[in-house]
Amino acid sequence: MSYPYQINSIEEYKEAYKKSIEQPDAFWASIAEHFTWKKKWDKVVEWNFKEPKVEWFKGAKLNITENCIDRHLDTLGDKPALIWEPNNPEERVRVVTYNRLHKRVCQVAQMLKNNGVKKGDRVCIYMGMVPELVYAILGCARIGAIHSVIFGGFSAQSIADRVTDAHAEFIITCDGAYRGEKVIPLKSVIDDALINNTTVKRIIVFTRTRTPVSMLKGRDVWWEDEMEHAEQQVEINGKINFEPAIMDAEDPLFILYTSGSTGKPKGVVHTIAGYMIFVTYSFVNVFNYQQGQIHFCTADIGWVTGHSYIAYGPLCAGATSVMFEGIPTFPDAGRFWDIVDKHQVNILYTAPTAIRSLMGFGTQPLEGKNLSSLKVLGSVGEPINEEAWHWYDEHIGKKRCPIVDTWWQTETAGILISNLAGITPSKPSWATLPLPGVQPILVDENGNEVLPNGNETIAGNLCIKAPWPGIIRTTYGDHERCRTNYFATYDNLYFSGDGALKDENGNYRITGRVDDVLNISGHRIGTAEVENAINMHAGVVESAVVGYPHNIKGQGIYAYVILGQKHSDEELTKKDILQTVTRIIGAIAKPDKIQFVTGLPKTRSGKIMRRILRKIAEGETENLGDTTALLDPNIVNEIKEGRV
Ligand code: PRX
Repeated sequence: MSYPYQINSIEEYKEAYKKSIEQPDAFWASIAEHFTWKKKWDKVVEWNFKEPKVEWFKGAKLNITENCIDRHLDTLGDKPALIWEPNNPEERVRVVTYNRLHKRVCQVAQMLKNNGVKKGDRVCIYMGMVPELVYAILGCARIGAIHSVIFGGFSAQSIADRVTDAHAEFIITCDGAYRGEKVIPLKSVIDDALINNTTVKRIIVFTRTRTPVSMLKGRDVWWEDEMEHAEQQVEINGKINFEPAIMDAEDPLFILYTSGSTGKPKGVVHTIAGYMIFVTYSFVNVFNYQQGQIHFCTADIGWVTGHSYIAYGPLCAGATSVMFEGIPTFPDAGRFWDIVDKHQVNILYTAPTAIRSLMGFGTQPLEGKNLSSLKVLGSVGEPINEEAWHWYDEHIGKKRCPIVDTWWQTETAGILISNLAGITPSKPSWATLPLPGVQPILVDENGNEVLPNGNETIAGNLCIKAPWPGIIRTTYGDHERCRTNYFATYDNLYFSGDGALKDENGNYRITGRVDDVLNISGHRIGTAEVENAINMHAGVVESAVVGYPHNIKGQGIYAYVILGQKHSDEELTKKDILQTVTRIIGAIAKPDKIQFVTGLPKTRSGKIMRRILRKIAEGETENLGDTTALLDPNIVNEIKEGRV
């Protein structure tokens, strides 16, 4: 069964696109009609990119959890909302029906209330990929608290920064998390993060790994105890409910921290109604989701992909979403294919890094796996190279499943540029066409629109001309940062930070970041953040970090480091530096290569010429461009010779 706003043909796409540009209010209102509101909007959209101020469905009242859960109960109550596949395939799969999800979310809402959480409060969530994580975010949304999920790979220091920035008084975590062979001691990382913290009032700890944890009297409580207590409170005369808070369309739903060009991650804020409409609309149309299908997004809920396409989008659409706790290579490299086979997955949405890494194992892990249930494949997070695209197409989709290459960002909430599965054509390594409501434009350095000369393909910085419902509203606690980062580079445009090509048919190909942000295995990391972490190491005087092409991760991190004094054991010093970065940010930010240098190529004004460092890291040692502006051109030769 399809949805009233489902696009079923290329003509319908063109028609929807045209209407979305010419009459955005009527277009989005006709979609929003199909959701549950406590009160409808007074105005569909009001905006200016100067401040910026963007408001969608102004005046409307709703609760997103009614849209994700309650409204499905009559028709889908016994249908699976979540299928949870544990890290260890020997452990029992958990199937969470919409009825069960409703009960659990009501319980969490009650538990949060019992623990003093109020509407508008920030709740940090640092959990593994367990269904309780979904209950936790939806429980927050049910009472109107703002969740801020922190990816389980971040260090204590990163958590501390985020908790402080969000002024969060509440944390939900697990004792530990399973990741392949490893157990990550989440609660103990939280404890480290909170040494000296005086503002966090309550930590709720879910037991997953039975890892011994310290529980501080008066602050720390067990999820299981609290949920049991709440269970009795949400059941009245045999009926379960927790009255959802009535929220304003523009109340914040969540904060999600992401890296930018500066050293400090930004708390991207999304608000309720626009987010809900955009992720549901894009979920249904990009994947051409049909009711009853099984959708498997392999991301972690610690990133925006998990928020939008494991949790909110699929649940608002009444879909069945597979949630996976483990990693693609445990217990072996056939794990994804086992899950597809076992649960008869119809849509598989993963990252090019995972595809490239699984490609490396050849086709043996695919043997005996029935992938015939697959209908649509998706790619997200980084450019997909043609080799990976064709492998995915041939070996996984067996050349019968459209591949959607979906371009978007934490700031955009949902997919902005992608082909629509089976509806609009795909083009290997091209994200192709904008979704209805999305108006991309390529500009040059000065903000002038780049226009083609005849049929040529053009290149430029990718911007968006007008707001779509999921656009970032602010950066938490610092609106000016939101303005300068996204809306000040070019007048009246949202600037994505990405470069792109556009062909004569209007297809876009994303070429990668044009700012100092790296994309490592589909995860964003700012070079300045990594440099700050390296510079924390006692022996380091200065460092410069650039990206370089990496066969599996897409990009690797290359660090040029100046030491205070030469160390006799350079290998050991490198390990110390890696350890420092792991402590400060997390293992995901560890440089792949470290080169010790005695100086960096700087201009007379002291600016590091990263262009040169990038070229050397990429292996290009001849055409380094003009080096005459350098303070000490000799340093370039030294760096070239010492390349690792
Ligand atoms: O550079 C683009 C790249 O990932 C960045 C956004 O990262 P993040 O906010 O962490 O969100 C990742 C999940 C949406 C973008 O600025 N990116 C994302 N999707 C694609 C992509 N690059 C090329 N092709 C894509 N399909």
